[in-house]
Amino acid sequence: MRSVVPDYLAEVLGDVEPDTSGEPAGYIPELAAADPDRLGAVFATVDGKVYGAGDVDTEFTIQSISKPFAYALALSDRGFGPVLAKVGVEPSGEAFNEISLESDTGRPRNPMINAGAITTHALAGSEGMNPAERLERVVQGLSAFAGRRLAVDESVYASEMEHAHRNLAIAHMLRSHGILAEDPTAVVDGYTRQCSLLVTTRDLAMMAATLANRGVNPLSGEQVIREPVVRQVLSVMSTCGMYDAAGDWATQVGIPAKSGVAGGLIGALPGQIGIATFSPRLDVHGNSVRGVSLFERFSSDMGLHVM
Ligand code: DON
Repeated sequence: MRSVVPDYLAEVLGDVEPDTSGEPAGYIPELAAADPDRLGAVFATVDGKVYGAGDVDTEFTIQSISKPFAYALALSDRGFGPVLAKVGVEPSGEAFNEISLESDTGRPRNPMINAGAITTHALAGSEGMNPAERLERVVQGLSAFAGRRLAVDESVYASEMEHAHRNLAIAHMLRSHGILAEDPTAVVDGYTRQCSLLVTTRDLAMMAATLANRGVNPLSGEQVIREPVVRQVLSVMSTCGMYDAAGDWATQVGIPAKSGVAGGLIGALPGQIGIATFSPRLDVHGNSVRGVSLFERFSSDMGLHVM
């Protein structure tokens, strides 16, 4: 029997399509040049079914959606204690690029803001790795979530590095507090490449479905991370994934989620489904305008609110 899901997805995309409010991210010139009209949505179930509508195979950079997955790798590679000693789990209530360090310890408040994610990048892999080995661990790990080898968009990476003064400043602050032991420039370089990995909406849905499926990629069958790590990652996505819009998201959508400034958005419903959307125009928080509307619709139509 033919599934009704693609028709449902096409109908909901049609409903949000006329909304052209918001702007593509302006602070990375290469992203500002993206086609703002792209729109796609994919559902990937934990038993391996994938349904999509719209621009499901268009590649764009993962940006901050890499953060929960890099956090998962850091927790897996170093253990909970060493990671929690360097990155907290409290919502900052501030924008993603605020400094947001705890005043007494210098710990970034959580791994979803830039300060926490720059630290997390340095915690992926083992302690003695050089920057290239660490990046390879991140690329290999995120690729395992997606179920295919991902590649860096070199022009987006170069474009962001030219304007990375704020992230470099944050990394130097982290170094001065002893949170980062490595060269701050090298860590920001690796973090920016991590953010510049190219994904499709379909890839993002598989990555989310791997979280929903207790860390096992539903198509490859690979156990990418263990269950305690999944629980930690989903918890932090729930409280911090949408930055200073986390409260609105919790009440209106109510599923663990993460956004990225290229316009991607993921949500993971444990035991059920990974959802991804793509639409490049962003609201003031750096979240996709139509992506948020799509998730609000999915949540109310299907009763997905779990928080
Ligand atoms: O660090 C940055 O500014 C970007 N590479 C990632 C930011 C991002 O995606 C924030 N999310 N909405």
